Amino acid sequence: MKKVYLETFGCQMNVSDSERVATSLELKGFAITSDEKAADVVLFNTCSVREKAEHKLYARVGRLRKSRTKMPVVGIMGCVAQLEGETLFKKISGVDFVIGTKAVSRVSDAIGKVLDGKQFVADLGDRELNYDWNVAASQRHSPYVAFIPIIEGCNKFCTYCIVPFSRGREVSLTASEIIRQVLRLRREGVKEIHLIGQNVNSYRPKNQSGLGAFKGATPFAKLLRAVAATGIERIKFNTSFPRDFHADIVEAINENENLCNWVHLPVQSGSDRVLKAMRRGHTIASYMKMIDNLKASKREISLTTDIIVGFPGETAEDFEETVKAVEYCEYDAAYIFKYSPRPGTPAFNMTDSVSADEKTERFSRLEAVQKNSQNKTLQRYLGQTLKVLPEKESANYSNQLSSHSTCHKVVNFEASADMLGNVVDVRISDVKANSLFGVMV
Ligand code: SAH
Ligand code: SF4
Ligand code: F3S
Repeated sequence: MKKVYLETFGCQMNVSDSERVATSLELKGFAITSDEKAADVVLFNTCSVREKAEHKLYARVGRLRKSRTKMPVVGIMGCVAQLEGETLFKKISGVDFVIGTKAVSRVSDAIGKVLDGKQFVADLGDRELNYDWNVAASQRHSPYVAFIPIIEGCNKFCTYCIVPFSRGREVSLTASEIIRQVLRLRREGVKEIHLIGQNVNSYRPKNQSGLGAFKGATPFAKLLRAVAATGIERIKFNTSFPRDFHADIVEAINENENLCNWVHLPVQSGSDRVLKAMRRGHTIASYMKMIDNLKASKREISLTTDIIVGFPGETAEDFEETVKAVEYCEYDAAYIFKYSPRPGTPAFNMTDSVSADEKTERFSRLEAVQKNSQNKTLQRYLGQTLKVLPEKESANYSNQLSSHSTCHKVVNFEASADMLGNVVDVRISDVKANSLFGVMV
């Protein structure tokens, strides 16, 4: 039996693809191993969102080459594979096969061809109509939490972003397929599902059957209610695209306890001029209106965001607008990135006017502003009782379990491992920079 080692970079969509690739490889007679050294096949699922992410792959294959006297079969899948295709064979020596983002069900065919002696096997073809979306319980990243893609690809073409090129156009899964997945996961004991996609609120299946009975102005709000009606314990979703984030989503959260009180809404910049150049489709005023609406919600909804600093043409004044927006929104967490030019995107041809030093300075300043704001914002949890799902034993604190709250905060508390996978109430007694501590009640 050939052993396959699979390493994943990038976003939840890649994690989810890897879970299905591992599932199908196992069905086809391969063994999935976590021991890279013992593997006959090493497969990397890659990300190209920033230059650094892409460099990780090159460095990683280099390390693999050094660690082996006889190279295993090496395969590259994911966004770098889709974008680079056969040029990867020239760029990285030792690569045997390349699998595009829609060809993930055919990894075993590619391995078979390489084992039969074929060189440089590439498959950038389309997904088959009867593609199997199931993930075997043994291949899920967690026994208690599962990812369900609801929409693939992206039609937004934000000018800095490579994703529309690596993942293609938006395709929504049918509601019946999604509900089938949720019910199966529930039967298997999964407590929390994440409905994932580059823009979940752009969800628009060709066939809307199964959604008719549910309220909502948009198919996504209807889907949220349909998934809530399955009775699964906790439902989270990300990422939300501000332009398509409608009030009906907040209404659905307010009316369904199992829709979790957390929204990830990437603002990217606080300057209208930059937002326009990024082609985000929202203004800072329209964004803040959404934030006000979320904050006015009956339930306390936690907010997180993504921000890019140093976009081409971003002036010191534009950056100050971003600082103001961050102070205004009082995020529970913000993921801040330095702009990274991606070949093939419209922004790549704009003059990258912000120097590397200036990018670093803006990054550090914004990080400090967010840290300061977060320190204050998170204090509101002190004394609150949160419903948490313990997922694993804490790596840093002995006798503690690491969990996530419904508002998606990391919460550590003392309990024995037999509590893993059981939703419990924890009263928060201490607030650290990025996590909360509490006592089970
Ligand atoms: N679909 C999501 C997230 C896409 S990628 C959305 O629309 O927001 C995750 C984050 O990476 C983005 O939100 C953005 O902040 C960041 N990002 C994407 N392209 C980037 C680039 N070229 N340079 C720096 N950060 C980038
Ligand atoms: Fe990229 Fe914009 Fe699409 Fe998000 S919405 S994946 S940032 S193009
Ligand atoms: Fe990266 Fe592709 Fe996801 S570029 S962020 S792995 S969609």
